[in-house]
Amino acid sequence: MSKAIINANRSKGVINRNIYGQFSEHLGRCIYNGVYVDEASGIPNENGMRADVIQALRALRIPVLRWPGGCFADTYHWQDGIGPRENRKKIVNTNWGGVTEDNFFGTHEFMELCRQLGCEPYLSGNVGSGTVQEFSDWVEYCNMGGQSPMAELRRANGREEPWHVKYWGIGNETWGCGGNMRPQFYADLCRQYATYIRSYDEAHQPYRIASGANADDYHWTKVLMEIAGGFVDAVSFHYYTVPGVWEHKGSALDFSREEYFTTLRKALRLEELVENHSRIIRHYQGDRKVGLIVDEWGTWFDVEPGTNPGFLYQQNTMRDALVAAVSLNIFNNHCDTVVMANIAQLVNVLQAMVLTEGDRMLLTPTYHVFEMYKNHQDARQLESYVETSLAGEAAESQVPNLHISASQGPDGTVLVTAANLDDAQGAELDCALAGLGRIERVTGRVLAGAAGAHNTFDAPETVRPVALEGIELTADGFKASLPPCCVAAFEVKPA
Ligand code: AHR
Repeated sequence: MSKAIINANRSKGVINRNIYGQFSEHLGRCIYNGVYVDEASGIPNENGMRADVIQALRALRIPVLRWPGGCFADTYHWQDGIGPRENRKKIVNTNWGGVTEDNFFGTHEFMELCRQLGCEPYLSGNVGSGTVQEFSDWVEYCNMGGQSPMAELRRANGREEPWHVKYWGIGNETWGCGGNMRPQFYADLCRQYATYIRSYDEAHQPYRIASGANADDYHWTKVLMEIAGGFVDAVSFHYYTVPGVWEHKGSALDFSREEYFTTLRKALRLEELVENHSRIIRHYQGDRKVGLIVDEWGTWFDVEPGTNPGFLYQQNTMRDALVAAVSLNIFNNHCDTVVMANIAQLVNVLQAMVLTEGDRMLLTPTYHVFEMYKNHQDARQLESYVETSLAGEAAESQVPNLHISASQGPDGTVLVTAANLDDAQGAELDCALAGLGRIERVTGRVLAGAAGAHNTFDAPETVRPVALEGIELTADGFKASLPPCCVAAFEVKPA
């Protein structure tokens, strides 16, 4: 029996809904043939947005969507993607497969996508190969309500009202594909670009996000904070869970037990990264609060055999579901510093929510985790603790078997999300809830299966959440049996 304690009297604050953010890049089939299809394709769509994909994604209540990259962002010139389609420039997507980018999906289409999803846009601007003027024009194009050259251009393209875009990323991976810069150089550029991200409306202030470190490059965060910390609202970092080495990352479907545990152990590293980057930010932020954003995270495996290597298409199993579960638990539990996170990526790329093939679509195990966790958004985080034992055989890849987080929604309902990382042993959970009073009801859902279990276009419902039976109320909480390799979500209703 593993004891878990949730303390409703202790909280780090509200879980920013933006922790449940997503990322969509002009990469492979994420945008084109993922969310956006030719209106004449025969695939049901509204203004080009695929109806089945939008309907599925709406159920996740996505709060914020980052676009257009990734590496693509620092090659993107936004003016190529506005105005009549036939006049839009055709460019080469040099980062991702060298394919032709016809710019049919541009700023207006992205705003339409966000409207249909009901989420906020997060635009990642070009610092690597763009100019300050170009970036500042994009802000004016999106946000200027009165008269100005860019506002007139927007109107000429059919949009009267400004979109009031709040989130602006100042470049992407500027230490790598975004310009191979050194931190001092980028930090100075960041100050300059941040200055020209103007506010056009008192009620809608832009939120400036600095392009942050690669994983554990703490030197980057330190230099960035020292030089540019006073000019931005948040600093990001990127971390991908790669089971192998960069050249041989490992297969998404065909993996050993050892690789399974290595993957989870690497995913759990996020906690140390979040804590260390946060510590540096806190040290340098002075009187201002600078947030931490993990605007790219998730699993990265070798591409699906037979697919374009530049398209980063990979399948998604229960192993991915557990990576998502522990990552989101970590973000929830550090909600005092983590203000946003964006999993990579929305559709058909890396750890996607949805995969498509022609007119078919499937929901991945990762999708189901986001759906099961969605009520953590804007809820009050609750301190939680769980007794664990070690799962896995090799000492260097063992992981704690259980991992949890908890929050309390505005109606008092507590959501406890728990993952059992042990692929062989179930776990008996004895969960006490302090400071809640009498509990009226506890219901639970569970997503379970073998580590490699996944959905296919022919069997799309192999992995899906089902009701967790046999939950027992106790004097101070509840007891439940967790199957091996599972993610569970419990809703606790106080009397
Ligand atoms: O998500 C795929 C790529 O990973 C992004 O374009 C880049 O920012 C990162 O290296």
